[in-house]
Amino acid sequence: MKKDQARIGFKSNLGAIAALAGSAVGLGNIWKFPYIAGTNGGGAFLLVYIFFILLIGFPVMLAEFTLGRRSQQNAFGTFRFLAPGTKWFLFGALSIIAATLILSFYGTVSGWTLEYVWLSLTNSFEGTNAQEVNAIYTDFISHPYKALLWHIGFMAITAGIIMGGVQKGIERYSKIMMPLLFIIIIALCINSMSLPGSTQGLKFLFFPEFSKLTANGILAALGQAFFSLSLGMGTLLTYASYISKRDNLMNISLKVITTDTLVAVLAGIAILPAVFSFGIDPQAGPGLVFITLPQVFQQLPLGELWAVSFFILLTFAGLTSAISMLEVPVAYLVEEKNMKRTTATGLLATVITIIGGFNTLSFGPLRNVQILGMNIFDACDYLCSNILLPIGGILICVFAGWYLDKAIILHEMSNEGSLKIRFFKVYILILKYIAPACILLIFLNIFGVIK
Ligand code: TRP
Repeated sequence: MKKDQARIGFKSNLGAIAALAGSAVGLGNIWKFPYIAGTNGGGAFLLVYIFFILLIGFPVMLAEFTLGRRSQQNAFGTFRFLAPGTKWFLFGALSIIAATLILSFYGTVSGWTLEYVWLSLTNSFEGTNAQEVNAIYTDFISHPYKALLWHIGFMAITAGIIMGGVQKGIERYSKIMMPLLFIIIIALCINSMSLPGSTQGLKFLFFPEFSKLTANGILAALGQAFFSLSLGMGTLLTYASYISKRDNLMNISLKVITTDTLVAVLAGIAILPAVFSFGIDPQAGPGLVFITLPQVFQQLPLGELWAVSFFILLTFAGLTSAISMLEVPVAYLVEEKNMKRTTATGLLATVITIIGGFNTLSFGPLRNVQILGMNIFDACDYLCSNILLPIGGILICVFAGWYLDKAIILHEMSNEGSLKIRFFKVYILILKYIAPACILLIFLNIFGVIK
């Protein structure tokens, strides 16, 4: 960015919260959480997940907020500014690459949501049974190009919003989409709980059966905590650079965390009882919402309307998250390479869509390409969520907990001393030892180094 150019941030506190919560709440909560909980034993997974959110997610989020708002720069610039003359800028670069990679597979599923909006609008689920709904899903994702077209469409909308800028793009659309999302998910929960046999689903979600929890499940819970809170790759750091110097960072992070966890649990309540009620296997994997919900909607009065609104809102949830990922490399190109915002966005969206195309096609024409026994999409998801994000988390902890002068952190968290920060020592302790040690232990366990 040219030095004489004022940097535009979020206009209001509410706008900042909407944008940050918009980034956190996404397909991760509504599409991913229920199926990961489903494949990892339900209630036990939920407990471990919440434990990680509080013990690791919260401090890491606060650290990202502190770093970003301190520097008021993109991810790369932040580390160069806070750690001049060191190699820390490489971490900034890594997070920009990770953001790009995550968006490439995030766009795939977001594209599916658009197809489902279309299918609902054209009333395609009417009169179909479970097998047929299943077949609609499998035929669609394996179609040679349909999913690709929706993927491109979704990326174009994402790019359009980002071209609008921080206030007129990100903040404005988040403020509209987030409240709508909340209303519809609550309505869905109420409906889902009234289905026959729904208690079984609630029991599955809330009753912890620890025998079903494996080491892999624990890593999945950690990965999911990072993924769902948008941590570990510069997204929240970049957004935080737009937060006003008057806002209370601790306060905002608590609100974002609460909203994100709440929506994940609500999504579980909306989906898992229906899964049981319709006799679907909760271990259905990534297709879970796409297979269960169309069946639920069919049973309802005005089912078509429910379906359309749900998939539109799923698209919104995806959009407010996708824009936050795209903003990471866009802010970098604009500020470090003096590129125009529109040019940077257009360029990046094109590159990311091309990379993402491989993910989208990995359910169809490229399904035989296997990486460590996974298709390209699952491998990409695994690499990002379970490896890159936690590593990013460790690095954030090391940077804020060990490298950076604690006075800087306290100064930024307390708005130059005007807010009272309690438990600062505990916070630093967690950042320095507990959070990174926890992440490391889980890693070592997964890779068989310790048992
Ligand atoms: N948190 C979002 C979700 O739950 C996805 C997301 C946005 C994300 N930005 C991110 C995930 C950065 C990891 C890193 O869907």
